[in-house]
Amino acid sequence: MQAKVGVGWADFRASPDQEVRGFVGLNLLYATLVSHNMDEAAEIVSEHEIRKYDRSNILGDYRRWPALAQEALEREASAVDFSDINHVVLCGMGGSAASCDVVREWLDDVDVVVVKDYHLPKWAGGRDLVIAVTYSGNTEETLSCYSEALKRGMPLVTISSGGTIEVSSRKRGVPHNKVSSGLAPRAAFPLLFYTLVEVLRKMDIVCSRRFEEAKSSAKMLDFYSRRIFPEVPLKENISKQVASFIYQEIPKVYGSERIRCAVERFRRMISENGKWHAMSDVLPELCHNEIVSYIIGNPRLRIILMRTKSDPLEISKRFDIVKEIFLKSQHKVMELMPEGSSLLDFIISYFYFLDVATVYLAIKNRQEPAKTENIDYLKERLGRELNYVSKLSL
Ligand code: F6R
Repeated sequence: MQAKVGVGWADFRASPDQEVRGFVGLNLLYATLVSHNMDEAAEIVSEHEIRKYDRSNILGDYRRWPALAQEALEREASAVDFSDINHVVLCGMGGSAASCDVVREWLDDVDVVVVKDYHLPKWAGGRDLVIAVTYSGNTEETLSCYSEALKRGMPLVTISSGGTIEVSSRKRGVPHNKVSSGLAPRAAFPLLFYTLVEVLRKMDIVCSRRFEEAKSSAKMLDFYSRRIFPEVPLKENISKQVASFIYQEIPKVYGSERIRCAVERFRRMISENGKWHAMSDVLPELCHNEIVSYIIGNPRLRIILMRTKSDPLEISKRFDIVKEIFLKSQHKVMELMPEGSSLLDFIISYFYFLDVATVYLAIKNRQEPAKTENIDYLKERLGRELNYVSKLSL
C-alpha cells in the first residue's frame, strides 16, 4: 500500500521539477506555499524539543494505537440481552464522545443518536439502548444520562477505565466494560471505539460484514504508525507536513458531511493537543454560506481539504470547484486523501495522522500536548461549587 496523502506532496516527492512545471496557474500557489514551510518545521520538531515539551509522552500513547485497537477487539464485551432495540443512544463527552461520533457516522443503517449533554432525549424509553462512554468514569454529563437511563429502565451498558460509573454499574448490575487506564481520554480512542464495536456486535447491532470492516480499519493504524512518528522525515511524514502547514496560521478544516466526525475531531485536537484555534465546516453545507466569504484574500488562512476516495461525484466536484474559489481569492490550500478502501478506513486514518499532527503543532507552539489545564480547572470548580454528581442517584 502506498501513502498517497497530501496530493501536492506526493507529486512533489516524485519529481520536484515536474511539480513546479505541473502546477500551473492556480495550483502553483498551492505547491509553492506548501513547500515553503518545510525546513522550518523539520527544525522545530527536533528530538530535543519533543523530549522537552511532550513530557507525559502522549506520542508514546499514540504509538500504541494499533495495539490498543487489538486489545479492545480481542476482549469479550459485556452487553445486555435485548434483541428488539429501536434506537442506540450513545452518551459521552470530549475524547469519549469521539468514539460515539464515529459509530454514528459509520453505522448509517442503524438509528444511532449521540448525546453530548446532561439529558437523554425525551422520546428515549424502554426499547432504546443507552451506552454511556466515559474514559475516566467521572464525567458529570455522562453520569447524568446514565442515571436517567437507570430511572427510565432502559437497556444500559457502560464503558470506562474505572471511576464512579464502574462502581455504580457493578452495584446496580449494569454490564460494564473496563478498558485500560492511564491514557488521556483522547489518546484512548481505539480502546473506546473498538470496545463500542464489540458491545454492538455482541448485541447483533453490528453484523458480521460490519465487524470485518471494523477489524480491517484497525489495520490502517498499523499502516500509518510506520509513517507519522518523529523518526520519519518531514518529506515523507504527512503529520509533520500538516503541522508545518498550519503552524502559527489560521487553520480552516473542510470535509464532507459523511466524515464530519473526522473534520470535527481534527478541529478539536488542534485546540486540545495543539493549544491553537481552528475553524471547520462541512460540504455540501459550506457551499451555501461559508463559501461567500472567499472574496477577500486572507494571507493567514490555511485551508485543509479532507477528501476521500469514496466521495461521490457530486461531492468531489464540489471540492474541485471550492478549491478553485479558494485559490482564486489567493488562499493557501492543502488537500488530503487518506489510504484505505472503506469509509471507516478513511475516518480511522484521519483520526490517527491528524491527531499526531496536532501533537507536533503543540510542540512547535512550545506547549505540552497532553496538558488540559482549562478542562481540569473547569471540572474542579464545577465539582466544588455545584457538586452536580452528588445529586444523582448512582
Ligand atoms: C481529555 C479529553 C477530554 C475528556 C472529556 C470527558 O483528554 O479528551 O475531552 O474526554 O473531558 O472526560 P471522559 O472522557 O473521562 O468522560
